[in-house]
Amino acid sequence: MDDLIDWEQQRAWVEIDLSALAYNVRQIRGLLAPSTKIMAVVKADAYGHGAIDIARTLTDMGVEWLAVATVTEGIELRQAGIFAPILVLGAVNSEMQVHEIAKWDLQPTICSIAQATVISKAVATLDPSVVLNVHLNLDTGMSRLGADWQQAVAFYREVEDLPYLQIASLYSHLATADELDPTVMEMQIDRFDRSIAAIAAAGHLLPMLHLANSAGVLVSDRLNYQLVRPGLILYGLCPAPHLQSAIDLQPVLSVRARITQVKSITAGTGVSYGYRFIAKRDMPIAVVEIGYADGIPRRLSDRMQAIVRGRLVPQIGSITMDRIMLDVSQIPDLQVGEIATILGTDGSVRITADDWANQLGTISWEILCGFKHRLPRVSK
Ligand SMILES: Cc1ncc(COP(=O)(O)O)c(C=O)c1O
Repeated sequence: MDDLIDWEQQRAWVEIDLSALAYNVRQIRGLLAPSTKIMAVVKADAYGHGAIDIARTLTDMGVEWLAVATVTEGIELRQAGIFAPILVLGAVNSEMQVHEIAKWDLQPTICSIAQATVISKAVATLDPSVVLNVHLNLDTGMSRLGADWQQAVAFYREVEDLPYLQIASLYSHLATADELDPTVMEMQIDRFDRSIAAIAAAGHLLPMLHLANSAGVLVSDRLNYQLVRPGLILYGLCPAPHLQSAIDLQPVLSVRARITQVKSITAGTGVSYGYRFIAKRDMPIAVVEIGYADGIPRRLSDRMQAIVRGRLVPQIGSITMDRIMLDVSQIPDLQVGEIATILGTDGSVRITADDWANQLGTISWEILCGFKHRLPRVSK
């Protein structure tokens, strides 16, 4: 069975270039003051890259913090022997979650007094020596998780007064840092700074502060505070075209698949479900073992390209669950077993998650997270 799995996993795979990841981290460090720490956002299986290898590489490089979305994601990293501090960005509302957080030495986000009370009570049922480091999330304009920034002082004081909790940081999240118009971002920075000033003026010692996502890191070092929380730029993609000149990045993820049949079809032959492609001439086509069940959006049918032997070739007809067809008229004598690059670089040609995102009217984050677990992650 293991041999069979090994063999079948050669049909298609996600290739992870850890040296590109390291390059991107060095580029990010180059934008930060020496004292600014990085909290690498490795939620959603490190944006589809495979959280364990990514987190290990990052922490080996000295990245100080990791952030995940769920307690389960944090446990997965701990079980893999990753010891860096881990912030859980998502809401923690149950005693069971708190017990697991304490057991695995994770650190929860707190978004409300009610939630802080649940967490404090849950910690009280544990060994009395346990004190949980918690991170206060202020909503300064994202209107997602977080306490109202206008209540920052009361929020801070009440959490500080609860037993078994230690405030490790205060943070907020930006809604529009990747937009050309900075108005909302400036408003959020102003609200964050006013909250910080009010908390300090009320006599509290300030904890670690953080605000910047990838776009924030690229926009201005004014957003860096003591720590930054990049996700996308770690993986080598830029949040917006106008920010591209701020940093040089290398995409970490490639997707490749094997050609399993090459055949000739005659003019007038329809290809794949619905015959959305009809051959205008006699032509060779290749069948490639990757489909929408692996994460290629079906809406790219007849619109995407792949790279074979360093040349762009059109994908033809509907993308099916497990395979796609390519027009390989430009590739002489193509053989079964050769590789098609679906995303990534082959020779001097590159297809990026941004290319797909632009075609589909979505964002590269969604493309990266879309590759399914049927595709093994192969690190190099
Ligand atoms: C709270 C928080 N911080 C940071 C990030 C990283 O964002 P980006 O991938 O844009 O850098 C995310 C991602 O969604 C997030 O939810």
